[in-house]
Amino acid sequence: MCGIVGYAGKEVCADILVNALKKLEYRGYDSAGIALFEGDRIKTVKAMGKINDGLVPKLSERKNLTATCGIGHTRWATHGEPSDVNSHPIGNGRVSIVHNGIIENYRELKKFLVSKGYGFESETDTETVAKLLDFYYEGDPLEAIYKALNDIEGAYALSIIFREHKNRIYAVRKESPLIIGAGKGESFIASDVTAILEHTREYYLLEHHEIAVLDENGIKFYDMHGYDIEKELQTATWDITAAQKGGYEHFMLKEIAEQPSAIKNTLSPRIKDGLVDFSECGLTDEKIRNYHNIYIVGCGSAMHSGLVGKSLIESLARTRVTVEIASEFRYQNPLVTENDLVIIISQSGETADTLEALKLSRRLGADTLAIVNVVGSSIARDADMVMYTNAGPEISVCSTKAYAVQVAFMYLLAVKVAFVKDCIDAGYCRELTEQLLQIPGVIQKCIDRKEDYQFVASKIMSAKSLLYIGRGLDHALSMEGSLKLKEISYIHSEAYAAGELKHGTISLITEDTPVIAVATQRRLFDKMTSNVKECKTRGAKIVMVCHEDMTMDESCVDYKIPLPSVNDLLMPLITVVPLQMIAYYTSVYLGCDVDMPRNLAKSVTVE
Ligand code: F6R
Repeated sequence: MCGIVGYAGKEVCADILVNALKKLEYRGYDSAGIALFEGDRIKTVKAMGKINDGLVPKLSERKNLTATCGIGHTRWATHGEPSDVNSHPIGNGRVSIVHNGIIENYRELKKFLVSKGYGFESETDTETVAKLLDFYYEGDPLEAIYKALNDIEGAYALSIIFREHKNRIYAVRKESPLIIGAGKGESFIASDVTAILEHTREYYLLEHHEIAVLDENGIKFYDMHGYDIEKELQTATWDITAAQKGGYEHFMLKEIAEQPSAIKNTLSPRIKDGLVDFSECGLTDEKIRNYHNIYIVGCGSAMHSGLVGKSLIESLARTRVTVEIASEFRYQNPLVTENDLVIIISQSGETADTLEALKLSRRLGADTLAIVNVVGSSIARDADMVMYTNAGPEISVCSTKAYAVQVAFMYLLAVKVAFVKDCIDAGYCRELTEQLLQIPGVIQKCIDRKEDYQFVASKIMSAKSLLYIGRGLDHALSMEGSLKLKEISYIHSEAYAAGELKHGTISLITEDTPVIAVATQRRLFDKMTSNVKECKTRGAKIVMVCHEDMTMDESCVDYKIPLPSVNDLLMPLITVVPLQMIAYYTSVYLGCDVDMPRNLAKSVTVE
């Protein structure tokens, strides 16, 4: 979490830095700040709160900022509460830094530095790095950086400026992401490429412990021994409009609307002559046939997409799949072996627990396949095989289109495994892929029915707690629906397997507890109807999400969300839309910050 930026060039840069930080604000919004070379000094302006609430007003009081080089930070607090003093940049006038990550041995470092006479103002782990750099600095920044990095344990992306080395930025990373942008006569640092797209599409991926030095003359790279290194220039395929709101009130709404095209971009290139083609990544038919076990690992919505995947692969390919929460998988001594495939799902490709789960799987000898949205991200780079979900940048903290494409990918995987293992023939495979390719159009119809979702949102917005219930694939969808609502409206909700309610949870139901019943699986519809009746009898208001052509005893349903009828197996791709939209409008009606919900950040790079 946290976003960091830097600029070295010829333009006056305070606004450039602030605009770049705004693009990274999804990474954290507890505070923001910039440090600039003004005259012979480093000038720092920082403030608690979102950029427009804290930093921008403070900057508008500072007239005549002329710096053409500086660094910036937007924070998701880990060590030390959100406050002005804990905001970055952090330094002492001689050295100033911005940091994304966690310094694990900061207590020992602090003790050491205090023994050398240093005082500390903030509660951050970052301040120890700034002071350590100052301690080692004797005129040569690279020397100081090498020495400091030798002492530091943990994860970091750092941008560093030294007062005596005017208009020059030093950048280094370990675990946390960092890219170096190459413009014409100007260079940039950013946690991700969306921050600099309006200036350049050309960038370098910084590897662990490589050091970049930026000034108006360009960029140089060094390894940890001080040797120059050559790096390959990358070109971003995302364009600037993809990272802008484009007339929508919120990024979340825009990203929901982008789902049809995102799904198409994920599916189409991998369906050839009606069959699924994974030749891009080396996941051969032979490998698929030989794997003993398949694991799917991720966090949050990414893990939820894995649950849909499990259901699909198990039913189509009769192959057991284990879905694991990355933060649990890491510490439970998993039974993974060299005969297994571990599929790692992540939008950002930087989620710390997911990344560690990937590394663990590799150490255990498994083949690893990353299903990732952000090109060149750590997970994409570390996995044995990678396939990108092609959703374009997702800015809203609450995942929508990234989840949808992950689910779309699960269909490709299920169809592929089923075909390779002779569980389905080419004819059925083609039928399924044909149906899949129709789905974006069907989703569009669902997106257009916003009045339905607004109506339901207006009915549930005053609830203190809700239940989402479903069976099979609908249970997996319920988990995602419940997460969306909690995350952006702050209304408590739980997702429950509908048949399991009466084993305890049904006692929560009163007439103030709306129940959102997801019932898109025809073979389970009668069972779902019974569960809905059980809730209705206890006074719950029922929102039923089901095929438009399903009929039921109307007296047990208060609001029906009708869905276009497609093959039951494909319903998750459609069902997620109303669940996202209901959460969205509930959040809007409650006046919550939809795109930047409290306490959260998009890229969770801490464990
Ligand atoms: C929920 C949400 C999170 C992410 C999770 C994993 O809306 O966005 O639950 O899905 O933090 O993030 P990635 O996919 O980047 O690994």
